[in-house]
Amino acid sequence: MEPLERIREFWDADAACYDRSASHHPSTPLERAAWAGVLARLLPAPPARILDVGAGTGFLSLTAARLGHRVTALDLSAEMLERLRVKAAAAGLDIEAVEGRADQPPGDGFDAVIERHLVWTLPAPEATLRRWRRATSGGWLVLFESAWGSAAQPSEVLKAWGRQALRRLRKVAPAHHAHYPDDVLTALPFGSGIGPGELVELVESSGWPGTRIERLHNVEWAMTRSLPPSDRFLGATAPCCAVVAG
Ligand SMILES: C[S@@+](CC[C@H](N)C(=O)[O-])C[C@H]1O[C@@H](n2cnc3c(N)ncnc32)[C@H](O)[C@@H]1O
Repeated sequence: MEPLERIREFWDADAACYDRSASHHPSTPLERAAWAGVLARLLPAPPARILDVGAGTGFLSLTAARLGHRVTALDLSAEMLERLRVKAAAAGLDIEAVEGRADQPPGDGFDAVIERHLVWTLPAPEATLRRWRRATSGGWLVLFESAWGSAAQPSEVLKAWGRQALRRLRKVAPAHHAHYPDDVLTALPFGSGIGPGELVELVESSGWPGTRIERLHNVEWAMTRSLPPSDRFLGATAPCCAVVAG
């Protein structure tokens, strides 16, 4: 079976549990407000045409649509998109959901292409980012990523272990239904994680002009404040950043 087909199968199977993890589906008003603040600042003025690639169950798409943008959500997984459609309908938001590959955007003329936590699982990230540039005709790129796996600093690795140990102790269900298949991960250029420096290099080598990066302290702060006080010393997430270009 093709790697992309196996990736699609993984996410179809993961859709039912994806939103139970707080880092996948920020669920407190504080976290939602922090993300809304970030998107309001980093996206063009609404109403802009936004393409959310690897949209999943729709966290970014829903937040952008609430800000008044016209959003197209693209994803390989029909099951993930089905969750997005249900949430959009419940919120009275009109989001176009398109099943398809990241490197085959549905049309062009977008004002911005955005993604969260997709780059690590792209088989050809540079070619894909180049393709997004053609889909925006002078628009913006906004990537939301976090430094996990091989990209994590030693102190963050310790905190991640601590968070995992706490979850095990409390018998919290894992964030995913299964591990990504090892052979798929090793074939991906960033399957073991992507750090901020590599992200910037990737965006620049894909031909996007004016690359800038910022750490999303507000989002990290809101996520940590949403934990029980006794757990806050471990933090809630790996460091999050936004890379913007265009
Ligand atoms: C880690 S989830 C992120 C979902 C969402 N962006 C979020 O922030 O919660 C990755 C998503 O990307 C999708 N995906 C993975 N590879 C893809 C590809 N090559 N083309 C389109 N979607 C892809 C998966 O189906 C999944 O929904």
